[in-house]
Amino acid sequence: MASLLTVALVWKLTWGTQQSHSSSSGSSSDVGECPLTYRRLSVSEVRGGSPKPYLLGGPQQPECTNCKRSGQWADICQFKSGDLCADWLFWSVLEEWLGRGYELALQLTPCDLWPLLRGRTLFLLGDSQMLDFYKALQCFLFEFWPSLEQRDLTADAAAQQQFSTVLRSTCVDLLQGTRVCYIRADKGTDLLTRVLPLLASLPGLAVPSRDLLVVNFGLHHDRSDYRQQLAAFAAYHASNAAALPRLLWQPTPAQHFAGSDGSGEYPGGQPPFQCEPLPGIHVEGEGRLALPDGGRDRFGLLRGGWRNAAADSVMRRAGIPILPSYNESVWMHAFHRDNGAGLECTHFCHPSTPQTWVLALFKTLRDLP
Ligand SMILES: *[C@@H]1O[C@H](CO)[C@@H](O)[C@H](O)[C@H]1NC(C)=O
Repeated sequence: MASLLTVALVWKLTWGTQQSHSSSSGSSSDVGECPLTYRRLSVSEVRGGSPKPYLLGGPQQPECTNCKRSGQWADICQFKSGDLCADWLFWSVLEEWLGRGYELALQLTPCDLWPLLRGRTLFLLGDSQMLDFYKALQCFLFEFWPSLEQRDLTADAAAQQQFSTVLRSTCVDLLQGTRVCYIRADKGTDLLTRVLPLLASLPGLAVPSRDLLVVNFGLHHDRSDYRQQLAAFAAYHASNAAALPRLLWQPTPAQHFAGSDGSGEYPGGQPPFQCEPLPGIHVEGEGRLALPDGGRDRFGLLRGGWRNAAADSVMRRAGIPILPSYNESVWMHAFHRDNGAGLECTHFCHPSTPQTWVLALFKTLRDLP
């Protein structure tokens, strides 16, 4: 537990977005169609900062509906409240991606992602970082969310009782029978003993399931037990895969604590902390990490640090797809947030790293066999 600065679960979010355009030749209502229209923004157009890239909170273009509403979620998903980044940080993300020619990040639209999620439930399972993933995803799909309200995970009363008391969970109902849900579990053991058996027992989970389950655990573990927990998780999955949604693994993002050994990991102590760049490492192109000539990688950061190195090898062996989401977190040392007691260097403000997880999800689903 020493490795994570534990932060209270806060049920609020940050901005929203949308993008893309509906496919123009509409015929089959099943495949490829998007029920909304998102005009794809050009790179030269977003260069000026307006309109904003959809991934960075730009509203649906040319027209939007939910963007005219107000209230808790409307505000959060339009980046008017929640754990917001300072305004100037928007420009630094824009500059970084323009400089690297990362056009997909600048141009991705919700209608690019939609056909990959339509009609499915996507569960995000893990600690407070996964809650930020949930917020980023529900807000990216803000205009697909008619009620702007949180819903129960299941209509089965006994199971819901478990999901809302023993665990914490919440869902949003999107268009066309699509849902995104978050389930809180910090440690591998909680996941194994509580969440996965409960999910596997849910009535109405189609088998084989079209639903998706994105999992991370990491920051609440230290070296003493992480490998063992990963192995137990992979073994459980191997025996129960048929009863579960399709599993995807989310890496643990970088931390940026100053005053540690240079690995960025939590050095102990209480906030406020200072966050600093991971020394001698930068990101190129669409997200490759690189060292300067002669640079040394003392902490294995090119492979995501010790947690991701361990998780990657377990997941790869088990045939579980891994979201390509770590690298883009590496350069975002300036995007951490205040947890109420001061700055900490684990969680990120919105829009920043959590929004890049949406992009990583898109790439993974697009490339799934
Ligand atoms: C992250 O960086 C490493 C090191 O350069 C590279 O091997 C890996 O492919 C990168 N991942 C992505 C998704 O670009």
